[in-house]
Amino acid sequence: MISVILGLQFGDEGKGKITDFVSRDYDEVVRFNGGSNAGHTVVIKGEKFKFHLVPSGAMQSNKVILGNGMVIDPEELVSELDLLKKSKKDIEIKISAGAHIVTKMHKCLDKKEEEIRSKLNIGTTSQGIGPTYEDKYARTGIRFIDLSNPEIIEDKIETIYNMKKQLLKGSIFENPEERAKMVKDLCGFGNSIMQYMDYTENVINNDYRLGKNILFEGAQGGMLDIDFGIYPFVTSSNTLAGALSTGSGFSFRKVDRVIGVFKAYTSKVGSGPFPSEIIGDSTLRDLGSEYGTTTGRPRRVGWLDLPLLKYTIMMNDVDSLAITKVDILGKMKTIKIATNYTIDGKEIDYFPRRLEDFEKLHVDYVELPGWGDIENPDDIIANGYQALPQNMKKYIEFIEEKTGKTIDIISLGEDRRMTITKQ
Ligand code: GTP
Repeated sequence: MISVILGLQFGDEGKGKITDFVSRDYDEVVRFNGGSNAGHTVVIKGEKFKFHLVPSGAMQSNKVILGNGMVIDPEELVSELDLLKKSKKDIEIKISAGAHIVTKMHKCLDKKEEEIRSKLNIGTTSQGIGPTYEDKYARTGIRFIDLSNPEIIEDKIETIYNMKKQLLKGSIFENPEERAKMVKDLCGFGNSIMQYMDYTENVINNDYRLGKNILFEGAQGGMLDIDFGIYPFVTSSNTLAGALSTGSGFSFRKVDRVIGVFKAYTSKVGSGPFPSEIIGDSTLRDLGSEYGTTTGRPRRVGWLDLPLLKYTIMMNDVDSLAITKVDILGKMKTIKIATNYTIDGKEIDYFPRRLEDFEKLHVDYVELPGWGDIENPDDIIANGYQALPQNMKKYIEFIEEKTGKTIDIISLGEDRRMTITKQ
């Protein structure tokens, strides 16, 4: 079985938890986009594991692959791998020779670019992700394979510095000694992680031929896709299912199942249009502890948005849905769901592209009753769907009816055990 798991909103849908849950059925888990701007949390028997670069399936699967579509901060990777090896000694780790490297200079550039954007400030995580992808496409980027060659790193650091000198004015990187130190540090990290480097496109395709079950794990969410998200308030990579091919070297034609993860409500980090946002009431944010895993920033929170969900379901060609944080949403007395968008009194059947359209956008809602606290977790775990509160079932079935997709996985708490499947 070859599957891909993706977020259907603005990221932070709880993909980490769902990926961990489903990865028990897979021999290997592959990440194909983004970098340490992703923050996945997996909770097993009360113990929390936070992943930024390593796939969240690492706790259950025996092999993890970081694909060429990723941008990797080697310092972060070294510390994440140390932690992983402590809790799971026998895991096989492979990193693509073609993944791009995030340096301290990229992080500095991230902040500078954000300052210059002013009105169109994106609210980036300042992890250097955007500038690293910029260098990739400018064909000046440092790749994982380069970490074994100090001369290449030095040459590339100087090229990037020269191209972006204006932006780096006043920073420590104007000092050649600082740049030399960065080269030395990168070589040092390279020495400790080069053992994991491989031509991962071959590894994945060989494993496929051997009949292995492979899970591809997307980072961020569909509405942050650089092409189809709400531009420019997007991430710097493609986050839709199609990205797995270019980000890992494995053909989309072989994918059997697309699993879309969405939260029972919506959250968003950073600026930009958010049609179903709840303004002036932080109840849901506080109930759901909606604060960034990577940055700690408070997230913007809103109701479930069906036009948006239907759009990302279509763009990913989703087969099966997973819903998270149903336990949190149920605590609200009345729950709203955005059902339609209208502009100038007319319902629209496309997802807007013009920022001005969002200003004119009117959102229609339906209201459903909440279901309170989950009082019978053990009963639910033992008896599954039928033991869920009636109002929760109504909510789930309403979404299934409107999207035409079944919700096969229901997550009712952060711990792995608080997850039920429909079958
Ligand atoms: P990105 O890749 O950055 O978008 O993150 P993500 O989608 O992997 O989100 P993350 O794993 O950080 O999940 C958000 C938070 O919700 C974490 O703290 C999870 O432990 C928690 N969480 C996930 N599912 C549930 C759930 O069903 N109920 C509750 N209460 N918490 C959940």
